[in-house]
Amino acid sequence: MIQSFSSLFCFLSLLSLLFSTSQTMSQADLIHMSTFCNQFSDNFTQASAYEANRDIVLTSLRLRSSLGSYSNATTGITPDIVRGMFLCRGDISLSSCSDCVQTATLEISRNCTHQKEAFIFYEECMVRYSDSSFFSLVDERPYIIRYSLSYAPNLDRFPQTLSDKMDELIINATSSPSLSSTPYFVESEERVKQFEGSFDLDSLAQCSPDLDPRNCTTCLKLAVKEMLECCNQSRWAQIFTPKCLLRYEATALSSPPPPSPSPPPPSPLFSPPSLLPTTPSLVPSPPFFMRPSFGGSFSINAINGNEIFGRIFIAVMTAYVLTLFGVGM
Ligand SMILES: *[C@@H]1O[C@H](CO)[C@@H](O)[C@H](O)[C@H]1NC(C)=O
Ligand SMILES: *[C@@H]1O[C@H](CO)[C@@H](O)[C@H](O)[C@H]1NC(C)=O
Ligand SMILES: *[C@@H]1O[C@H](CO)[C@@H](O)[C@H](O)[C@H]1NC(C)=O
Ligand SMILES: *[C@@H]1O[C@H](CO)[C@@H](O)[C@H](O)[C@H]1NC(C)=O
Ligand SMILES: *[C@@H]1O[C@H](CO)[C@@H](O)[C@H](O)[C@H]1NC(C)=O
Ligand SMILES: *[C@@H]1O[C@H](CO)[C@@H](O)[C@H](O)[C@H]1NC(C)=O
Repeated sequence: MIQSFSSLFCFLSLLSLLFSTSQTMSQADLIHMSTFCNQFSDNFTQASAYEANRDIVLTSLRLRSSLGSYSNATTGITPDIVRGMFLCRGDISLSSCSDCVQTATLEISRNCTHQKEAFIFYEECMVRYSDSSFFSLVDERPYIIRYSLSYAPNLDRFPQTLSDKMDELIINATSSPSLSSTPYFVESEERVKQFEGSFDLDSLAQCSPDLDPRNCTTCLKLAVKEMLECCNQSRWAQIFTPKCLLRYEATALSSPPPPSPSPPPPSPLFSPPSLLPTTPSLVPSPPFFMRPSFGGSFSINAINGNEIFGRIFIAVMTAYVLTLFGVGM
């Protein structure tokens, strides 16, 4: 009975593999942020034990992705041991989580053909695998930030308002893991009423459940720091690190019209989106970002440490900052 059940399972997962290329419906909803194939990790070869183990781990993650927002898998023995995990954003449905992990596991094996360590970030989920152990550890890098090129409301006060909100979120995320059914996940929706005008501030914070509360705090504090340094004047932003994520969005309620039709005033914070692509292969492909709901103009900055790799100008009002395995890792 169990035998036939598991062979049915195998057959189904094979089927899902075969048909995954035609799953354009679910893929179209996902926002791919970045794929990091770690060039500094060891290489494996085609048809090696490492590759076989990686496939087992990724398949296992795929199968578990309809059960919860986090899972992990380990298989093999050194030097062919492979560890993997996925983390879905706590505010998406289980089926969206599953869609994201399905796509992410396929894309990561397709795109990282020989690196023993890799990460793939979508707005909705993250998948990683490695030959070294990463459970319970905080990894600061690689991370990716996606942020709006529109300015936040009440700009003079916004960075402080945001910073205070983030501090509060961190305390709530780590102090009472049982507040929500998803571990270390907190959401907040607040109507901020200030002299300059009112706005809604939606925000969320989340850690991977393998961290202890202390390392969850550490992870979120590092993420807040990176996010606020990058874009504490943006209307919205999201950062995804290997072990935690943060997101916020501010929506003005009062008279000024929505910022989308008019480009934001020039600022050194938002580098001019007029540069032509220099190394397009390093940045995510554009189709996901052409969705009309975004509107406006768009640029991607791929940053390794302080070095700018490439920029792309497309039709969405967002930008990316991503840090690869730079100095200090
Ligand atoms: C892995 O292979 C690439 C070329 O395919 C090479 O540039 C790189 O140095 C290799 N890395 C290691 C750690 O051997
Ligand atoms: C994977 O690589 C292909 C071709 O190299 C590219 O078109 C695609 O956008 C990449 N996908 C991801 C998720 O990096
Ligand atoms: C917390 O993370 C640090 C850095 O990754 C690690 O050295 C430490 O062992 C972790 N703490 C626990 C309790 O796992
Ligand atoms: C943090 O938790 C307290 C107590 O449950 C709640 O009043 C507050 O609104 C929460 N703040 C955030 C930002 O989640
Ligand atoms: C791995 O995931 C399982 C649930 O799928 C969980 O029970 C276990 O604690 C996880 N281990 C680590 C190290 O995160
Ligand atoms: C906002 O970011 C700027 C630039 O990084 C920084 O100088 C400022 O201190 C930040 N403000 C807050 C409240 O974090």
